Amino acid sequence: MRPTRKASPAPRRRSNPANNATTPVQPQAGAAEAPVYATPGQATTPRKLRAVGAPALSRVRVPHLLEMKAQGVKITAVTCYDASFARLVDAAAIDVVLVGDSLGNVIQGQESTLPVTVDHIVYHTAAVSRGLRRAHLVADMPFMSYRSVDVALENAGRMLAQGGAHAVKLEGGAEMAPIVKALVDHGIPVMGHLGLTPQSVHAMGGHRVQGRGKAAKERLIRDALALQDAGCYAVVLELVPAQLALEVSQRLVIPTIGIGAGAGCDGQILVLYDLLGMNAEFQPKFLKRFADLHSIIGEALGSYRQQVQGGEFPGPEHAFVDPSVVAEARPPARAG
Ligand code: KIV
Repeated sequence: MRPTRKASPAPRRRSNPANNATTPVQPQAGAAEAPVYATPGQATTPRKLRAVGAPALSRVRVPHLLEMKAQGVKITAVTCYDASFARLVDAAAIDVVLVGDSLGNVIQGQESTLPVTVDHIVYHTAAVSRGLRRAHLVADMPFMSYRSVDVALENAGRMLAQGGAHAVKLEGGAEMAPIVKALVDHGIPVMGHLGLTPQSVHAMGGHRVQGRGKAAKERLIRDALALQDAGCYAVVLELVPAQLALEVSQRLVIPTIGIGAGAGCDGQILVLYDLLGMNAEFQPKFLKRFADLHSIIGEALGSYRQQVQGGEFPGPEHAFVDPSVVAEARPPARAG
């Protein structure tokens, strides 16, 4: 797929038929003409979606993401690793869900993403896919899983066939063009990833901002154009100066999805656990916490422990009774 600037017609909008709906966003069978993405004025949480009546949204697909860029509608993306969170993410009308190899850090407790395997990503992608009905699902290609065209084809094929992904993401620039082209030629949409590429953390000397200085800036722009030419439908820009990310976004037809790359990108992605504030210690400059789940979960677990220890939980309302035992225990009816 080689997207072109004029390929995308404006999305057809229609009035919201679900203004009084009480359920979160669900795709409608046969709703091919429905707008597929939530516009900025629309609600962003399941509760608000219920309150305003969520529009019937069908599956977000690659062409819709190109349309969103063309229309200036920001793309929302998060990572996700399981079905329960996937349902919440979908209800909030997030457009793109990435089963990132960041699961090495946030799920497995690893120091880096390097130990993550294709089996791990397939397993988590399949779980997420069961919880999603609307969002576009991207599976991350782990370290060394795309070291040659044949290896990449086999592993990316598993992401789609066994994991239920709609696309794969891989790290790297112009040097990845032959791999990207082979995948795209086999019908596998590819999202690129430039800037800080965590699978090269050792080569890069840590998690540093990339693309600073004339040479690095020019190389990143060249890489982005090469990925687009090879057939990528979107590119993640991670830890890149905001001016450079804006310039790349303006020069590409395909959308850029930023993380630590400023507001000029066509969309934003954050690691779900980070944006929900699950880890009190992790506070890089680019991260905004939209909730404090660390405290909320800590308080809930503390209350649970106290109530179990204090005999308050479980109460009679949480217990099951055997009616026959209750009948036997009833006092006998008095004669006369
Ligand atoms: O693995 C991941 O979570 C990612 C995002 C940070 C883009 O690659």
